[in-house]
Amino acid sequence: MPTSFFFITLLLLFIIFTSHTPFVNSETDSCSSSPSINGISFDITKFHCFSVWDAQGFILRYQQTESSLWSFVLSAPDTNAYIAIGFSSNGKMVGSSAIVGWVGSNVGIKQYYLGGRLSSSVEPNKGNLQVLGNTSAALSQSNRIYMAFQLNTTQPQSKLLYAVGPQGQFPSSPEFRLSQHDYMISTRIDYLTGQSGTVQTPYSRLRMSHGVLNMLGWGVLMPIGVIVARYFKQFDPTWFYVHVSIQSGGFILGLGGVVCGLVLNDRINANVVKHKALGIVILVLGCLQVTAFLARPDKVSKVRKYWNWYHYGVGRVLIALAVVNVFYGIHLGNAGNGWNAGFGAVLAFLFIVAIVLEFRKWATK
Ligand SMILES: *[C@@H]1O[C@H](CO)[C@@H](O)[C@H](O)[C@H]1NC(C)=O
Ligand SMILES: *[C@@H]1O[C@H](CO)[C@@H](O)[C@H](O)[C@H]1NC(C)=O
Repeated sequence: MPTSFFFITLLLLFIIFTSHTPFVNSETDSCSSSPSINGISFDITKFHCFSVWDAQGFILRYQQTESSLWSFVLSAPDTNAYIAIGFSSNGKMVGSSAIVGWVGSNVGIKQYYLGGRLSSSVEPNKGNLQVLGNTSAALSQSNRIYMAFQLNTTQPQSKLLYAVGPQGQFPSSPEFRLSQHDYMISTRIDYLTGQSGTVQTPYSRLRMSHGVLNMLGWGVLMPIGVIVARYFKQFDPTWFYVHVSIQSGGFILGLGGVVCGLVLNDRINANVVKHKALGIVILVLGCLQVTAFLARPDKVSKVRKYWNWYHYGVGRVLIALAVVNVFYGIHLGNAGNGWNAGFGAVLAFLFIVAIVLEFRKWATK
């Protein structure tokens, strides 16, 4: 059985995923060397400047230009999607007002009132921000979008939300309906010191549980269970009980992780169709494995060989999909490279262990 091929595939997937960071490209703009931007009607050279959302390369510049006039310039990589900044009283999206800018099939910058989580309750040209009518601009320069606007206020709200829209979907006339964002983050800023404070993501504990349970259950325990079954058959029947215990533990953790994911999806109404579909396929495969285990034919039975093939096959597909979906989930959740590195390190370790055991198995044949 080409188990080593299977693990090599895992390693390749790992390399592909970790080397693939499509949205982090803030090289063309940084606070240390502010570019000159044509098309903004105010001078931004003396503005405070902060990197406010590393995962998406968001940079915010601002200045209290007059006692009741604040000027903002938000810049982000041009991924052919809208970018948005929301001003919120409580850090939540619902009830806040946002400035949304885009440079796509048409160019625009508009205030939206976020009356609810559905696209239909996000209303254009409404909101609590007093935006100066003649100085807003959205433009693209050196692969970045710049969105400039001025607010008539003595003190803007410090709870700031940022969002990136889905690629290629821009608000357009006459309705200017805003598609649901792909990525969102909730932050707090101290305008005086400029310190961008602790970033608090909504439902962070639920996200964490979802990620950790799925990663441990499907992505770590199950591969360990496979290793036990493949390389420790000489300890019969201990290997069997260990294998069953590890896979059951993995299944229970994974099931918990999927439930957390469904609850989270319900709460934040995230646009994660592929991630969810893959997760459900993995859960179905997991249930098939449990069923297959309960209905396994006797060891001496003729069909046992075919049952084994089926059980191995489904198990390997399950783990491969799980690894893909864990990395994909880390990407979707903007969990950061620490998660990629951690999960990748565990996979690499298991891979090395499997290689060593594989050699031993062949050597002692
Ligand atoms: C924008 O309008 C304000 C008055 O509301 C005026 O003082 C300012 O000069 C105008 N700015 C530009 C760039 O036209
Ligand atoms: C801000 O709004 C007030 C009225 O609400 C107005 O008197 C003032 O001129 C505005 N400031 C600017 C800079 O537009």
